[in-house]
Amino acid sequence: MSEANQVAGVSVGIDDISFATGSYRVDLADIAPRLGTEPAKYHKGLGQEQMSVVAADEDPVTMAAAAALPLIERGGTEGLRTLMFATETGIDQSKAAGVYVHELLGLPNNVRTVEMKQACYSATAALQFASAIVARNPKERVLVIASDIARYDLDSAAEPTQGAGAVAMIISANPRVIELDAANGVFTKDVMDFWRPNYRAQALVEGKLSISAYVEAVAGAFSDYQANGGSDFNDIDFFSYHQPFTKMAQKAHLGLAESLGIEIDKAAADEKIGATLGYNRRIGNSYTASAYFGLLALLDTDEDLTGKRVAIASYGSGCVAEFLTGRVVEGYKKHIRADEHLEILDTRVQLDDATYYAAQQRVIEDQGNYSNREEGMLRGKGSFAWAGVEGDKRIYVRR
Ligand code: HMG
Repeated sequence: MSEANQVAGVSVGIDDISFATGSYRVDLADIAPRLGTEPAKYHKGLGQEQMSVVAADEDPVTMAAAAALPLIERGGTEGLRTLMFATETGIDQSKAAGVYVHELLGLPNNVRTVEMKQACYSATAALQFASAIVARNPKERVLVIASDIARYDLDSAAEPTQGAGAVAMIISANPRVIELDAANGVFTKDVMDFWRPNYRAQALVEGKLSISAYVEAVAGAFSDYQANGGSDFNDIDFFSYHQPFTKMAQKAHLGLAESLGIEIDKAAADEKIGATLGYNRRIGNSYTASAYFGLLALLDTDEDLTGKRVAIASYGSGCVAEFLTGRVVEGYKKHIRADEHLEILDTRVQLDDATYYAAQQRVIEDQGNYSNREEGMLRGKGSFAWAGVEGDKRIYVRR
């Protein structure tokens, strides 16, 4: 362990990591004719093949619980005293969605629970706050969950950049997967590039502005990272960017290199980002979870990454960005779940455009307040279900 990998003298990082997504998927080639375009626009122009779609009885809580369950089953609850739930598609204005997850997972009462929000960025804030808790008391472990459903207006340019998913991580001392470096860089600027007022189920976005705001914010965060003792651009082996669509990672990487006066072409960018794109290409935007799906795709590849320095470039519209790095720990392959992850993606049920469209329209019309129990509504296949609303209270069950 080098000094770069120590937070307050303690090695802190990701000890275990797992994901979940919606039970259904739509192939973008199937929605292209309705949107009056060629599939190539989505496959090549955006770098997206599919997007995950949730059933009527799935939401950010059920996905979060499903993502975290394997971590609790493997690692138990010893030392666990904090659950941080990062989301921008929360299901209550007051109660933290993580409290439902706490119950579904059967966590002890002496685990504090809190919800975090800043668009797609907040999981990275949670990761850093969790690291600080562990650095203060290395016996503690923190469960960080990022879970979101990306929804835009149907028939809009943003529609093919929807998606759904959750990533859960255990942050601990002497982690078995990634040791985080102490250096990090942060950036905030008030930009109206993407937002979702309380009365809307689907986000509003200024698409082109959002892309330039993202590139500027990541460059700003990287410059702060370097000012705080971070590695040189060329000394980082892989970059896992927030991926609202995977081509955005390429735009961000080329933009960052340009801001540093470093000349690279698309092939050189692909060497640093290509391995992080596989999951997001099939899941779509999962907002808070997206950069961590990138990390998982990288970790789940066949290549031995031991000792490699990996960056996480996190962006949340509005906007906040953070750039941080870590090193892949020797023996990490024993702790990842590549086969399980592939199976989750491969067993999603494909929807045709008409079925997917009707399901999305229903959510948007009812603004999430509907009873989800009607005949014919899509049902999920995961371990947890949202069983409906009774007396304005959401009810969750384990299947
Ligand atoms: P659009 O109007 O479809 O864009 O909107 P376009 O017409 O410019 O086409 C996109 C790309 O496809 C272009 O490539 C075209 O050339 C290409 P580029 O010039 O960018 O390299 N193209 C084709 N390629 C091959 N064959 C073809 C073809 N036709 C066109 N036939 C946009 C795209 C992403 C703006 C839209 O989908 C959108 O608004 N999405 C939502 C916003 C978003 O994802 N923004 C990303 C940055 S902000 C962010 O990441 C934060 C976020 O996750 C939210 C949060 O933080 O909470 C969104």
